[in-house]
Amino acid sequence: MEVLLKSARRFVDEVPAALAVVGVWGGELSEEGQRLDRKHRNLLSSMIEDLHFKGEFGETLLVPLGRLYGETQSREFALLFGLGKKRGTSLETVRKAGAKLVQAVRKLGFREAVTETFLSEKFGKKDASYALAEGALLGGYTWSKYKSAGSPGKRAERLRLWLARSARQSVDRAETIAEAVNYARDLVNEPPNVLTPAELAMRVQAMAQEVGLDVEIWDEAQIKQAGMGAFYGVAQGSANPPRFIQLTYKPQNPASKVLALVGKGLTFDTGGYSLKPSEGQITMKCDMAGAAAVLGAMRAIARLKPELEVRAYVAAAENMISGSAYRVSDLLRSLSGRTIEVLNTDAEGRLTLADAITFADWQGADAIVELSTLTGACVVALGEKIAGLFANNPRLGREVQEAAERAGEKVWPMPMEEEYLEALKSSTADLKNTHGRSRSAGAIHAALFLGEFTEKPLVHLDIAGPAYTEKDHDLGPAGGTGFGVRTLIELAQAL
Ligand code: BES
Ligand code: ZN
Ligand code: ZN
Repeated sequence: MEVLLKSARRFVDEVPAALAVVGVWGGELSEEGQRLDRKHRNLLSSMIEDLHFKGEFGETLLVPLGRLYGETQSREFALLFGLGKKRGTSLETVRKAGAKLVQAVRKLGFREAVTETFLSEKFGKKDASYALAEGALLGGYTWSKYKSAGSPGKRAERLRLWLARSARQSVDRAETIAEAVNYARDLVNEPPNVLTPAELAMRVQAMAQEVGLDVEIWDEAQIKQAGMGAFYGVAQGSANPPRFIQLTYKPQNPASKVLALVGKGLTFDTGGYSLKPSEGQITMKCDMAGAAAVLGAMRAIARLKPELEVRAYVAAAENMISGSAYRVSDLLRSLSGRTIEVLNTDAEGRLTLADAITFADWQGADAIVELSTLTGACVVALGEKIAGLFANNPRLGREVQEAAERAGEKVWPMPMEEEYLEALKSSTADLKNTHGRSRSAGAIHAALFLGEFTEKPLVHLDIAGPAYTEKDHDLGPAGGTGFGVRTLIELAQAL
C-alpha cells in the first residue's frame, strides 16, 4: 500500500487513476463532491437518488462515469463511498474510512484510486489528511508472506491511493508512523519457529543500522554474567537461547531527559510446567507484542528525531518445557538482588521484565514506560480493545494517557493498590511471582510486582487484549495489531 500525491487541485481534474472516490454523508454528496463541475455533480447526485444509495459507513457504489456519458471505451469510474452521519464524527472516523476505502478499492479489483480528504472542513486539511493516510496505510496492511505465489490469499500487487499535493507533510508523517506499526505487526505475525530470540535480535540489529540507532545485544552467557537471574530462569528451558536487546536514540543536542521503553519479548509462551491448555497457546506467538511495539516506535523515533534521549530494552526468551526448564518452587535471584519464589511458571513475563526494568533504571532512565501482554486478567477486565494503564506516578500516567488519546489508541487507568502488595510477599524469598491460588485482581498483582523493581516514574501498559486479534478489525487484518506503537511515538514527541 502506497499513498501518493497528485498535483491537480481538484480531485477529479487530471485524475491520475481510473477511479475517483467521492464521499457521501447522510445520503448526500460530501462538500468536496458538491464542488465538482456541474456535469459530474448532477450525475452522481442522481445516482444517489435513483439507486437509493444510503451511504452507510463503508457502503460503496461503483459508477461507470465514461460509459454513462456514452463513451463506450472509457474505463473511468467514480466510487461513491458511504461515510454515515456527519454528527459525532472524529478523526477516528476518517482513519477508519481510509482503511475501509483501500479495502473496498482492492476488493473491486482496482490498483489505484484518487480520493478527496473526508471531513477536512471539520478537522482541517492537515489533520484530516493525516488520519486518512494513516488509516489507508494501516488498513492496506496484509500478511501473506508464507502463502505460495498464485494462491488465493497471496497479495503481491501494490495498491496506490492519491491525495492532494497540499497534504504532503501529513502524508510523510503518516508514512513514518504507519510503517512503524506495520513493522511491529510483521514481527508479531512471524511464527515462533522463525522468530526465535536470536532471530529477533538479528532483525533488530539490521533495523538499527538501517535507521541509525545504537544497538547492543547480549547472548546467553552475557545475560547470566550480568546477573539477570529472573530473566535467565525463564529462558533456561528452551533450546533457543535468550537475547537481551538494547537500542539507543540520541538527539542531536545532548538531552537532559532519558525515556526508557521496555517491551515484553516472549517469542512463545507455552506456560512452562504450569502449562497452558492447548486453546490458550494458540495466540501465544503474540507474547512479544510489547517488544514489537517498542521496537516499532524506536524505528519511527529514529526518523522523527524528538528532542529527548530514548532507550529501548527487550529481554527476549521462549517459555518452554524441558529437563532444564525452571520449576514451580524454584528460587530466582533477580538483577536487583531481590530473590523470587516461582509459584507459577506461566507468570514468566514479570520475571523477564523485572530484570529489564532494573537494568533500565540503573542505566539512568528518568521515566520508564513498559508494554506487555502480561495477564489474561486484564483482558477479562477491559476486553480486547482497551489496554490497562498502571502508573506509580500520576503525572507520567497522564502523559501516557493523553498520548494514547491523540494517537487513537484506547487505554484505561487501573489502580496500583498498595494493600494488595501483601499477597506477593513470600515466606522463603523476598517476593513470589503470583499471589497464589486466588484469581482476584490478577492484572493489578502483576503490575505491583513490576513496581517493586524501580522507584523511578513507571507506567506499565498491559496490552494482552488489544495486541492481537483473531478477527479482522477496523484498521487491519487478523493477527498482530501493532498496538502501542502510535502512543509511544506521540509520547516521545510530547515529553
Ligand atoms: N502471556 C500471558 C498473558 C496473556 C494471556 C497474553 C492472554 C495474551 C492473551 C502471561 O504470561 C500469562 O500467562 N499470565 C498468567 C498469569 C497468572 C499465571 C498469574 C495469566 O494471565 O493467566
Ligand atoms: Zn505466561
Ligand atoms: Zn506470557
